[in-house]
Amino acid sequence: MQHNVGSHSVEVIDLKKQFTNKQTGAVNRVIDNVSFTVSENSFFTLLGPSGCGKTTTLRCLAGLETADGGEIRMNGRSVFSGEPRRDIPPEARPIAMVPQSYGIWPHMKVFDNAAFPLRHGRKTYPRDERRRRVLAMLEQVGLADYADRWSSQLSGGQQQRLALARALLCEPEVLLLDEPLSNLDAKLRTQLRAELRSFQQDAGVTAVYVTHDQAEALAMSDTIVVLNRGRIEQIGPPGTIYDSPASRFVADFVGSANLVAGVVDARAGLGDRVVEVKTAVGVLRCARFATPPAPPSAGQEVSVCIRPENLRIFTSDDPAAGHNRFPARVTSVEYLGDRKEVHVAAGDLTLRAQADAHLDARPGDEVTVASDPAWTVALWS
Ligand SMILES: Nc1ncnc2c1ncn2[C@@H]1O[C@H](COP(=O)(O)OP(=O)(O)OP(=O)(O)O)[C@@H](O)[C@H]1O
Ligand SMILES: [Mg+2]
Repeated sequence: MQHNVGSHSVEVIDLKKQFTNKQTGAVNRVIDNVSFTVSENSFFTLLGPSGCGKTTTLRCLAGLETADGGEIRMNGRSVFSGEPRRDIPPEARPIAMVPQSYGIWPHMKVFDNAAFPLRHGRKTYPRDERRRRVLAMLEQVGLADYADRWSSQLSGGQQQRLALARALLCEPEVLLLDEPLSNLDAKLRTQLRAELRSFQQDAGVTAVYVTHDQAEALAMSDTIVVLNRGRIEQIGPPGTIYDSPASRFVADFVGSANLVAGVVDARAGLGDRVVEVKTAVGVLRCARFATPPAPPSAGQEVSVCIRPENLRIFTSDDPAAGHNRFPARVTSVEYLGDRKEVHVAAGDLTLRAQADAHLDARPGDEVTVASDPAWTVALWS
């Protein structure tokens, strides 16, 4: 199939899927008007908490689940549409899927597991070519020496690699991965996420990846879509999601955040670049925020997000005056080797700061805390 680099590999438009509880009649909108586009050869991640609709979205892309409405296009071709009705079966879509459980057949040898799609899939090959391709792929994923072993003898990490090899042997244009690392221990998970990312790039395949692990999403993705109860909270590159969260949900779910409630200050200029928010610790100037859904107005309730690493602590009087400075009292200090985790109380608020490992602060100390407006985020919702 012909396509241009940088073009859209997957387009999802107003996708809807609901399940109805047969006993109660209650309707669960699992995918609630979701739209996104995935650029060709990019690593695109669906991130969200358990039950937010990640697997259902992936299964709709695969054709294993039929959506109620909307459209799914792959490389410009419509593979699903609600109106007019179109639902191309999984085997006719340019995809391969690695399910969460890997789907490795234990009664087959490693080689035969990997070779399966080349015997029965979209594109089959004669015996010798098949053998050559399978062995080359097993070599690439580090399983060359295991070709003749029973698949049941593989470790979790090896099974994960085998599942990936089998999916890549389908030569999919879009690789769908449902939490493929979640069954592995923490160390292996970090190692394999880097491997997975480089396989994806070497293979030149578009990846749609599902995870509830924000660190994994930040580390691997070109683009992240944060899902909450079947709706999109934010779409963007990892740096934007982390540094400029668009909602309280995103700020809290991705990384950790100090959230301070407030209202837009009447006296402050409601400029395009900064917004000032009246809070329990004084006026906080925010130079970072998503485009508001409507022009902000004085008195409007907003939240201010400050990441712990952006909250600075001064133990002695800091000569430089500036914005977003307020007194606080240290309530706890944890030494973590490379840094100190400091909790401070300011009025009724408790805030978390990541401080220098050598900061000389003890519980009970009166300090000044500061947050650079450039890294202080106003949240409209
Ligand atoms: N076949 C089904 N029938 C009824 N409800 C379903 C069905 N499949 C999924 N759901 C419901 O849809 C919602 C989303 O499920 P989904 O599996 O997509 O979530 P998820 O984001 O993948 O969660 P997890 O991180 O736990 O895997 C859940 O509330 C789930 O109970
Ligand atoms: Mg799931």
